[in-house]
Amino acid sequence: THQRPTVIRGPVLTFTGNPFTHGLERTAVYEPDAIVTMANGLITDFGPAQRVLPRLPANAEIKNYSKDSLISAGFIDSHVHFPQTPMIAAHGEQLLDWLTNYTYPTELKYSDKDFARSVAQVFLRENLRNGITSACVYCTVYPQSVDALFEEAERLGMRIAAGKVLMDRNAPAALLDTPKSGYDHSKALIAKWHNRGRLSYAITPRFAPTSSHEQLEAAGALCREHPDCYLQTHVSENKSEIAWVKELFPERDGYLDVYDHYALCRPRAIFGHGIHLTDDELQVMHRTGSAIAHCPTSNFFLGSGAFNIARTLREDRLVRTGIGTDLGAGTSFSMLTTLNSAYKAAQLNGYSLSARHAYYLATRGTAHAMYLEDKIGSIAPGMEGDIVVLDMKSTPLIKYRMQFVEDFEEALFVQMTLGDDRAVQATYIGGELKYSRDPAEVRAS
Ligand code: GUN
Ligand code: ZN
Repeated sequence: THQRPTVIRGPVLTFTGNPFTHGLERTAVYEPDAIVTMANGLITDFGPAQRVLPRLPANAEIKNYSKDSLISAGFIDSHVHFPQTPMIAAHGEQLLDWLTNYTYPTELKYSDKDFARSVAQVFLRENLRNGITSACVYCTVYPQSVDALFEEAERLGMRIAAGKVLMDRNAPAALLDTPKSGYDHSKALIAKWHNRGRLSYAITPRFAPTSSHEQLEAAGALCREHPDCYLQTHVSENKSEIAWVKELFPERDGYLDVYDHYALCRPRAIFGHGIHLTDDELQVMHRTGSAIAHCPTSNFFLGSGAFNIARTLREDRLVRTGIGTDLGAGTSFSMLTTLNSAYKAAQLNGYSLSARHAYYLATRGTAHAMYLEDKIGSIAPGMEGDIVVLDMKSTPLIKYRMQFVEDFEEALFVQMTLGDDRAVQATYIGGELKYSRDPAEVRAS
């Protein structure tokens, strides 16, 4: 509890519902001069400045952001690998060779807790520098890598879901657990971290090819025993991967059916990629309340394909769809850069993603995919105080281009097409300023 509420004023964009199913008119809120008040971790007031000013607490001090700013709910990343931060931008391979040649050798280093902590610090700092206030994170097979991430996230007060990778075959021996040790270590981490403050545990079988039948069964048992934990894995990212799953699980009716068979398709299950899922598989995703994490910079970088978002956001068969950076196959921590790639992935499928639909995906849409839309992803009283403040004129080119924009939608599209970390001027976690582009400001707060 603090003595003083945090009060910020400036232009606000937020969403009250899903524009893909209910239209922008009914769901997008743009308020050119708004006040957001936060106290004790939560948003306590939000509205047009003229309406909120008279009811501000007597001791309130207002932080004014200019007309060239944009205040939004913090961005949410539904799929990211913190241990891959040191190997972002590894050249030249598609998924399976990339895992063998770059990813596994890097992840071996995380038996060292001090190394894990140092990377977790850089990872969370980069999240804040990019306005990402929540994420669903893969750690490594080593439990100490999970401790390292959660300890740092707790220090910052971030809402983070994360888990120990389960993998017991088809990778270097030192990276493998067993069905029993994977289960036991996950169980202990759940007891230690799940629902501790803003932290949640994610049961994390890496993907079908690196888990035996016995391990997938154990993952299913963990899911049954902990229905409010997340389940995260990868599915149908790459054609060679899909062919490999067919060889490893000939008895199953496709890739997603492997997970469905072990009861891993469920609410709070988040499947990375899903580029090549069939209509029948998308129907299973819809029916089971599972979600897809769309990771466009990764999909382009690994040459995996162009995810067709129009197939998952169909009104008659809605599949919860979040946005993910999927770093280190993803090539940027910037959510703006990630939305730029999401636009291009949609373009390749003949679908034109509007700027406001894209911002919905990066905030409330991903919160919905994670069953968190009652806590994060929008600005309203009672929601948690996670906020990003963008600068809409962050580079000489953007500033120049902004002279010619005719409406807010266009200004927003310019940001997601040309903007990056330089556009993030401030990030608030639980109502407290945790990052500012102006170094003097963070020190003072
Ligand atoms: N599939 C299995 N593991 C991984 C990973 O670390 N990154 C990506 N992009 N796909 C995977
Ligand atoms: Zn991934």
